Amino acid sequence: MSASVPTTQIFKDNIFAGKVLLCSGGGSGICRGMTEAVLRHGAKAVIISRSLDKLEKAAKEMRESTGGEVIAIAADVRKPEQLEEAVRKTVERFGHIDYLINGAAGNFLAPFENLSYNAFRTVIEIDLLGTFNLTKAALKHIKASKGAIINVSATLYYTGTPFQQHAGSAKAAIDALTKHWAVELGPHGVRVNGIAPGPIESTVGMEKLGPQFDATAVPLQRMGSVEDIAQSTVFLFSDAANWISGVTLVVDGGHWLNATYPGY
Ligand code: HXC
Repeated sequence: MSASVPTTQIFKDNIFAGKVLLCSGGGSGICRGMTEAVLRHGAKAVIISRSLDKLEKAAKEMRESTGGEVIAIAADVRKPEQLEEAVRKTVERFGHIDYLINGAAGNFLAPFENLSYNAFRTVIEIDLLGTFNLTKAALKHIKASKGAIINVSATLYYTGTPFQQHAGSAKAAIDALTKHWAVELGPHGVRVNGIAPGPIESTVGMEKLGPQFDATAVPLQRMGSVEDIAQSTVFLFSDAANWISGVTLVVDGGHWLNATYPGY
């Protein structure tokens, strides 16, 4: 299932000219849309995930659709040495890193009794440790450029969504990292925020978690699109948000507030 490509330019074309984005999970779904939007506004980008074949194909398509410069580097966010190498290659190619998106994630529905020790650990390792690992690997470059970080979160834990304790726990801790880093890195000129997407159409997450999702459960009466998240990304990286740090922006049409009828 491929996600829709964001094309609307709400912000000026070149607000990210000269900037470099590093994005984990940037080869597909929501994070690909986030990366494409940043590319469309003039940045260069490096996308990271495990499968180089898929990543190279995505990078080629993204170059064609945006006219931007984007390269693929294979790395597993669970392996710090691979991330350090990816950061080294990024800086070797583009000279610096300004923006970081921690988007790599794994998820599946699992009742407690079916969630093995290893399954819980795997999702924590990909989502939470992956976020820590990539940020640590890129930290000195983000500080040097007085850059900005976006951690991709989720609303799942706000209401204790069933069968989602692994992803929910990881995202709760990621939101904590967003706050800790905002406070610690703020004096260095680095802004750190999160985006918590609601149900986004045509994504692997929705295919796995809510294939029968009823969009009337969303107060704004529609599912989200990848573009909705992409536009929020442009906003949070832009100077329009230059006094916003430590916030996880919920982009969900008001969905999580409707806890009495989640629509799944
Ligand atoms: C129960 C499962 C399972 C499932 C895997 N496991 N799938 N348990 N139900 N459906 C268990 C395995 O049995 C194994 O435990 C352990 O998890 C590790 O599985 P592996 O396949 O060996 O690990 P790995 O290949 O590293 O990654 C597993 C994965 C992967 C995370 C599930 O499939 C993955 O990366 N998926 C693609 C990305 C993805 O899902 N993206 C969607 C993100 S959506 P045992 O005990 O057997 O060894 C999102 C938020 C959505 O993040 C919000 C929506 C509103």
